[in-house]
Amino acid sequence: MRNVAIVFHSGYGHTAAIANAVAEGAARVAGVTVNLIPVDRIGEYWNFLEEKTDAIIFGTPTYMGSASAQFKSFMDASSNVWGKWRDKLAAGFTVSASQSGDKLATLQQLAIFAAQHQMLWVSLGLMPGNNSTKGAADDLNRLGSFLGAMAQANADQGAEGVTESDKQTARTLGERVAVAATRWART
Ligand SMILES: Cc1cc2nc3c(=O)[nH]c(=O)nc-3n(C[C@H](O)[C@H](O)[C@H](O)COP(=O)(O)O)c2cc1C
Repeated sequence: MRNVAIVFHSGYGHTAAIANAVAEGAARVAGVTVNLIPVDRIGEYWNFLEEKTDAIIFGTPTYMGSASAQFKSFMDASSNVWGKWRDKLAAGFTVSASQSGDKLATLQQLAIFAAQHQMLWVSLGLMPGNNSTKGAADDLNRLGSFLGAMAQANADQGAEGVTESDKQTARTLGERVAVAATRWART
């Protein structure tokens, strides 16, 4: 059995909706158990993350062009387990209100964070959607990301504003990481 954990923060429910979609995608893969871990409960999970997980997927809203303060607090606290996540798989997702909103900076922050933990980063693995005359706003990977999953949600809506295409993109990321975890035996 492989364990995939999703560690996330969500201030207003958008990133939580995407985290759920990532979990749904990972759970499609036989032999994989998925755990959703909100950062405000991270204290209960440090040992679990170190000892049981094969992959950790990081999710945060983009606040001021970077991870939220709550997620950054988790990042800084993880220095206590520095070196313990070596060779686990990692991936990331982020949500913002603007179509761009500087989400790439957040994903880069997550990828560097994973590298600091000597983890192996799994990219989104999708071709970009919505970038030609044949494309549409409901395409898979409509925001054209490669490093991780991006989602956009209108600032004046709650979780219902998270689009189905962004959820599908997130499910794809979860499934990809779970498949990779089944191939990547933990030593
Ligand atoms: C403090 C703060 C900073 C934000 N900064 C950005 C930003 O840099 N770019 C952007 O597009 N949206 C920004 N937003 C909007 C959020 O990214 C957006 O509402 C997101 O969906 C929130 O996700 P959540 O509900 O999981 O917290 C910001 C929101 C807040 C509260």
